[in-house]
Amino acid sequence: MALEAAPIEFDSPDRRREISALRAEIRALVTAKGAVILAHNYQRPEVQDVADFVGDSLGLSREAAATGARTIVFCGVRFMAETAAILSPRKTVLLPELEAGCSLADSITADELRTWKAEHPGAVVVSYVNTSAEVKAESDYCCTSGNAKAVIDAIPGDREILFLPDLFMGTWLERVSGRKLTLWMGECHVHAGIRPADLERWRADAPDAELLVHPECGCSSQAMAFAGEGARILSTEQMVTHAKSSPTDHFLVATETGILHRLRSEMPEKRFDPLREDAICRYMKMTTLESVRDSLVRDQHVITVAEETALRARRAIERMVAIG
Ligand code: 13P
Ligand code: SF4
Repeated sequence: MALEAAPIEFDSPDRRREISALRAEIRALVTAKGAVILAHNYQRPEVQDVADFVGDSLGLSREAAATGARTIVFCGVRFMAETAAILSPRKTVLLPELEAGCSLADSITADELRTWKAEHPGAVVVSYVNTSAEVKAESDYCCTSGNAKAVIDAIPGDREILFLPDLFMGTWLERVSGRKLTLWMGECHVHAGIRPADLERWRADAPDAELLVHPECGCSSQAMAFAGEGARILSTEQMVTHAKSSPTDHFLVATETGILHRLRSEMPEKRFDPLREDAICRYMKMTTLESVRDSLVRDQHVITVAEETALRARRAIERMVAIG
C-alpha cells in the first residue's frame, strides 16, 4: 500500500510555472463541471490556494451541506469525504487520493464500538468527526474540535458519555467541561507526538509568543495550565480567528504544519512558527494539484456510503451541526 506522500516540492521557477498552468486547468474544469473544491487547513499550500473553500472539519462539513454544486472535490482525508457524502447524498463526492486515510479514525472499528456500548448500557456515544461512517452510524452525536465542548454541554448531566476515539482530546474535554467522560484510547500519530516536553521549548525560547494548541496534541491538557501565559487550545479554524483578533504578533503553533500557510497568508504582518516542524500528516499531504486535476478529469475517486449507514450517521452529524 502506497502510504508515503509525494515529496513536498521545492519552489523553483519551473515548478511555479507548472503550478500556475495546473491551477488554470483545474479552475476551468471546476467551472465546466459545476464543481466545488473544499480543502482542509492541513493540505499543501498550492492545493489550499486552488480551493473554493479552506477550513477545519466543522467548516468543511457545513460547506459540503450548503453547497449548490453537483460535484464536491474533497481535498482532505477519507472520513471527511464520507461526511460530505453522508450530508449530500445526491452530490458526487470525489476524493483525489484513495489512500488518504487517518490514523485516528483507524483506531476504532464499528465492531469495537458495539462491544464498548454493550459494556456501558444507556451511555450516550459522542464520536469525534475523525471516524468512519460505520462508527458515526453507531453514535448519538458527532463533534469536531470546534464544537466538542458545546456538544458535551448539551447532554444531560446525569448521563454517562462514551467519548471516542481521541484520548488526548477527551482528557482536555473533561477538564474544560468539568464532566467525567469514559474515554477510548485512540490517538493521532501526528498530534500525539507533540508532547508536554515541547511546551518547555516555547517557555524557554519564545515566552512572549502565544501558543496555539490543537486539542488532539499529546500536551493539550498540560497546556491548559499555561492559559494565563498565552496558551490557547483551539481547532484549526479557531487558530485563524483567534490570531486575527489577538494583539500579539508572534505565535507558536502546535498542530499539523499545513495550517501555517493560511495563517501566514492571511496575516503577513504577524509571525507564525511551528512548535514542532515534524508535525506533518502524510495522509493530508498525499493530495497534489496533479491528483486534483485527475480527479476532475476522470471523476475519481467517488466516495459513497451505504444508504442505511448514511441515514444513521447523518442523525449524529446533523445533531452536531445544529448545536454549533
Ligand atoms: P480540525 O477539526 O481542527 O480541522 O482538525 C481535524 C484533524 O484532522 C485534526 O488532525
Ligand atoms: Fe488524522 Fe492526524 Fe492526519 Fe488529522 S493529522 S487527518 S487526525 S492522522
